Amino acid sequence: MKKVHLILILTSCLTLFSCQDDEDNNTIESPTYNNGDELLGGNGSIYDESVNAFSQPIPGLEGEDELRFFVGNSFFNQNWVTSPASTTARDGLGAVFNARSCSACHLKDGRGRPPQTIGEVNHGLLLRLSIPEQDVYGSPLPDPIYGDQLQDQAILGVQKEGEFSIVYEKITGSFGDGEAYELQKPLYQLNNLQYGDIHPEIEISPRVGQQMIGLGLLEAISEADILSHADPTDIDNDGVSGRPNYVWDIVNQQLSLGRFGWKANQPSLLQQVAGAFIGDIGITSPLFPENHNPPNVVTAADDELDITGDKLRQVVLYSSTLAVPTQRNPTNEQVLQGKQLFNEIGCNKCHVSSYTTDIHPSISPLSHQKIKPFTDLLLHDMGEDLADNRPDFLANGQEWRTPPLWGIGLFQTVNNHTFYLHDGRARNLQEAILWHGGEGENSKNNFKQLTKAEREQLLAFLNSL
Ligand code: HEC
Ligand code: HEC
Repeated sequence: MKKVHLILILTSCLTLFSCQDDEDNNTIESPTYNNGDELLGGNGSIYDESVNAFSQPIPGLEGEDELRFFVGNSFFNQNWVTSPASTTARDGLGAVFNARSCSACHLKDGRGRPPQTIGEVNHGLLLRLSIPEQDVYGSPLPDPIYGDQLQDQAILGVQKEGEFSIVYEKITGSFGDGEAYELQKPLYQLNNLQYGDIHPEIEISPRVGQQMIGLGLLEAISEADILSHADPTDIDNDGVSGRPNYVWDIVNQQLSLGRFGWKANQPSLLQQVAGAFIGDIGITSPLFPENHNPPNVVTAADDELDITGDKLRQVVLYSSTLAVPTQRNPTNEQVLQGKQLFNEIGCNKCHVSSYTTDIHPSISPLSHQKIKPFTDLLLHDMGEDLADNRPDFLANGQEWRTPPLWGIGLFQTVNNHTFYLHDGRARNLQEAILWHGGEGENSKNNFKQLTKAEREQLLAFLNSL
């Protein structure tokens, strides 16, 4: 691993002279060219702008952990099959499910997107479901029949729960300089529900799978550090509040700070990964030992867990240690101007750039890293237009967690699309900004008032991340 990394640095330094004067934006710069400012994931950064940019282990992963990374990688990418099968190592799929593998939604460890045609599978968007009530801890209550997620695939001989379709409503607007733009707002419809009526007031939260990079670094940020950015009652009166979510933590049997998921609805990578196994693929584990099949679906009796605690932890280690690609073109003039604008118009109030991680309990290369994720991991009211109107623990129907911005300039390369936001509605970075409302309204309006040249600078900065 280390050798490959060094060679990459070396070759890029060697080519530096020949490309330095190059006019075009594809100029390749060495990772140490900008005083390390471009190492978004600290020493957990890698220099890679290829289609595999999200799929590399952090440098410094050694011995047992390196081995676990590669085993975790295979469990992340493999297709699970119906049990009983001759290969018990990977059976247990379903009965109903959303995908056969993690990578079906996190393709190349990257970002999912909305389906482009009805019936398309493996796109990475799923619908969370609940009824308008919460339990004592604030957990959304599942639909009595369809559970907390619409499963649109099933094993042979079992009906999938149903399908969904999306229609887009056009919304138009214009920038301060008069240039017009058009956004598309998705409306979801559930079709062909196979197990009877769904709750009449069903709440639907559409969400795409995120890029998998740097997640262990986010987990290693201290709770105190995150809470220091919270301003729930907006005491400083800047229109931006920021609230922590507290969610049910199965391992510790208590409410814990939420960090993962679009509403900071998961407290740890362990719970997030085990939740993905059960909810998305139908794989039981020590955290979620029971399958929730639709009513009257009887599958082969199986008392064993589909995945052991040890395997689960290998996938958690994998999910914790995917390296963050370095910023590209950090010293490009446009990028530098864009970075300044990002701070001037208030994007950094939520997309907080820098942290030093605390001690990671088990993976030492994740400890004490200077990282730049551009998130506060807090909830913000983003206005009615982005609302899913489905509360998730303390997050209300208009609140979303600020997503990290590292890697967002690489979706095109890695995933061959540029869909952004929780449901992939934004077709590019500019649209993602234009959807900001609520606490993000001011900085959105500031963006709209920029000249076209300035807007392009800001986008160049975002694309360099
Ligand atoms: C059907 C699509 C789908 C599959 C399959 C899937 N995921 Fe996800 N993943 C998502 C979505 C959607 C989210 C956001 C969840 C939310 O907001 O509640 C997510 C979130 C995550 C996150 C948190 C990312 C963040 O930035 O907060 C991790 C980690 C993750 N998934 C790991 C996995 C693993 C490991 C597997 C396989 C066991 C898996 N996922 C399978 C769609 C999927
Ligand atoms: C009030 C807090 C806040 C401010 C200020 C803010 N954002 Fe965001 N940003 C968010 C949240 C929350 C989301 C996720 C919304 C969603 O998915 O529905 C988001 C999403 C994004 C995304 C999409 C990321 C992804 O992974 O899909 C981009 C890009 C982005 N913001 C850039 C900006 C820029 C540029 C600015 C300044 C003009 C800005 N933001 C200001 C909170 C904020």
